Amino acid sequence: MRIVVLMGGDSTEREVSLVTGDGVARALTENGHRVIKIDPTATRDEQTSLNKSDEHWIGIEYPEWDTLPLHRGSLYLKNIMLIKRLKPDIVFNALHGGKGENGVVQAMLDAAELPYTGAGRVASTIAMNKDMSKIYLRKAKLPTAKSHVLHRPDASRKKLKKIEFPQVVKPNDQGSTIGVAVVNNHHEMEKAIMDAFKHSSKVIIEEFIAGREMTVGIIQQRTLPPVEIKPNHGVFDYECKYKKGMTEYKVPAEIKDTLAQTLQSIAIKTHLALECTNYSRVDFRVTEDDEPFILELNTLPGFTGTSLVPMAAKAAGINFNALLEMIIEDALDTLKKE
Ligand SMILES: Nc1ncnc2c1ncn2[C@@H]1O[C@H](COP(=O)(O)OP(=O)(O)O)[C@@H](O)[C@H]1O
Ligand SMILES: [Mg+2]
Repeated sequence: MRIVVLMGGDSTEREVSLVTGDGVARALTENGHRVIKIDPTATRDEQTSLNKSDEHWIGIEYPEWDTLPLHRGSLYLKNIMLIKRLKPDIVFNALHGGKGENGVVQAMLDAAELPYTGAGRVASTIAMNKDMSKIYLRKAKLPTAKSHVLHRPDASRKKLKKIEFPQVVKPNDQGSTIGVAVVNNHHEMEKAIMDAFKHSSKVIIEEFIAGREMTVGIIQQRTLPPVEIKPNHGVFDYECKYKKGMTEYKVPAEIKDTLAQTLQSIAIKTHLALECTNYSRVDFRVTEDDEPFILELNTLPGFTGTSLVPMAAKAAGINFNALLEMIIEDALDTLKKE
């Protein structure tokens, strides 16, 4: 197959995406595919250097740079046009966060009638939006922590007067724990709210769930074994997520079978409730009494060789290269059924 690996982008998770994209491209090449890496925010020269050789560009009529100002945002549109000209069988979306994960790139790929991996544009938008996700989860009677929402410009704090601490303050639509803070009093909460508003026009204030952190990957409507995440810091923050040795992972989690089954069952229901397809990962907090709360669903979870979903797949006997084939096959199958 001819496969475009979409990677990089201009989100805060750009660096992680470049690592994901390189690994995915390498494995797909090993699997016998023709692979071209495309950064949706790269200029032609940057695009060429990403692929380290001009070979890929032979015979491609690259769109003329027009008079649009050359800012990174407008490059998304141009590079989607470029991908269209490359006539790939599928686009493997290795972006993380921002436009690559919140439905914007998915909508552009839909407009260009290009098939791609991962959730579609509606599911991507819902999943990236914590407030909207909670509405869908509550409607499906799935467990999510009690929360309040502040919406700029009407961000009255009245409803927070009688709140009990600790609480977790987070921007509505970020990732990688950016702007997330655990707060223990009104003073800390106010500071955290102001900080979270720097990242989003909506802020979630959510009950802190003491306990352990677990995650369940989903592929082809099947769940992978739950993984326990034990970050060195109490919270699974940016450093613990991406710095080696900062987090211990238990694969599979050492938990009772009944809890594993409960997590897997909630994970698949969450995947369906948020209208996801192809693959995703559902994160949980689990209390001391084994009561699970859904933290969030990630439509484009980390996908480096050592990321959580590949790690869980390995525990289920699926190696990285085979996992990529499963994702591609499933994405193309889903399209056929539409
Ligand atoms: N309600 C909560 N109770 C306890 N810890 C939480 C809660 N919400 C978030 N956290 C901690 O913060 C991390 C990031 O929160 P999350 O909602 O997943 O945001 P992000 O989209 O930035 O990953 C979680 O992995 C967890 O460690
Ligand atoms: Mg998270």
